[in-house]
Amino acid sequence: MTKTIAILPGDGIGPEIIAEAVKVLETLQHSFGLNVQLEEGFVGGAAIDATGYPLPAETLALVKKADAVLLGAVGGTKWESLEISRRPEKGLLGLRSELELFANLRPAILFSELANASTLKPEVVADLDILIVRELTGGIYFGQPRGIRTLDNGERQGFNTLVYSESEIERIARVAFDSAEKRQKRVCSVDKANVLEATELWREVVTRVSEDYPNVKLSHMYVDNAAMQLVRAPKQFDVIVTTNMFGDILSDLASQLTGSIGMLPSASLDAHNKGMYEPIHGSAPDIAGQNIANPLATILSVAMMLRYSLNETKLADKIEKAVKQVLRDGVRTLDIGKNAVSTSEMGDAVVAALLK
Ligand code: IPM
Ligand code: MG
Repeated sequence: MTKTIAILPGDGIGPEIIAEAVKVLETLQHSFGLNVQLEEGFVGGAAIDATGYPLPAETLALVKKADAVLLGAVGGTKWESLEISRRPEKGLLGLRSELELFANLRPAILFSELANASTLKPEVVADLDILIVRELTGGIYFGQPRGIRTLDNGERQGFNTLVYSESEIERIARVAFDSAEKRQKRVCSVDKANVLEATELWREVVTRVSEDYPNVKLSHMYVDNAAMQLVRAPKQFDVIVTTNMFGDILSDLASQLTGSIGMLPSASLDAHNKGMYEPIHGSAPDIAGQNIANPLATILSVAMMLRYSLNETKLADKIEKAVKQVLRDGVRTLDIGKNAVSTSEMGDAVVAALLK
């Protein structure tokens, strides 16, 4: 049966990196029998320009009927003066909550060919393979009440709410433990339980869930310490499970261990493995339109899509092998090396490696 993939390029470098991922998908279609149909939609600033809304009804209908979603990136200076509820980022957050994509998997893997691209010493990061499991539809990103209010004395006050219910914690903990069972069987739960009640409950529930996974070793770490440990000795981690905001911050940090944020893919999954796949980096307006962005995070996101949502493990392996091959061949975009090739040349190199 033909599966539908919604393609949402978004803003900034989004359209450039998505074009390369689409090249890869089309190669799989034409040469390796992948039976998919690609349907494009607007999201973010591009959608605001076209329709006035960051997540238009047509796009929502498209992603709801699709089997998987591939997203570039959203946001840019052009839309920064809009009220927060109408900004491009709301399109992304709306997709996550409308599709109930509560589990965000962000692997930080160092390709050995890039050991020298990291700002950390090669021996600290060599063979690094961490999986950050970020809760994606709750916490302070979505908690109510929120807003900016004016106090009696005329001063304005901004406020947000960090809130987690037991069921939200339990389901993300299960994703982390299930993932750990297929890896090194270690989960580190990151919280701020010494200060924040919401994460005191987080720690309690994760501990309770761990009783169902006797083969997995659970540890806990405060988020400040986790940030330090990730830079000091990142290889101590296998799976990290954490809240929406802590996961946002720690995954950017982890990306630098691997050399470049341009290398890190992600999967955002619902309870039935329907997913949205996107690079963890943003729309990078400063380099947009120059054909210099690294498309590998997006191409590796396609591999995650094939693995998690489309049940095409062999094709996923193929893409990852092709990416390794181009890195071994010394092909580099600007963020990971000298004598850099362009975005589209990198995409072509991956396609050529696939067809070899
Ligand atoms: C990410 C991004 C988003 C987030 C932004 C663009 C809303 O930083 O996916 O990590 O904060 O979740
Ligand atoms: Mg982020």
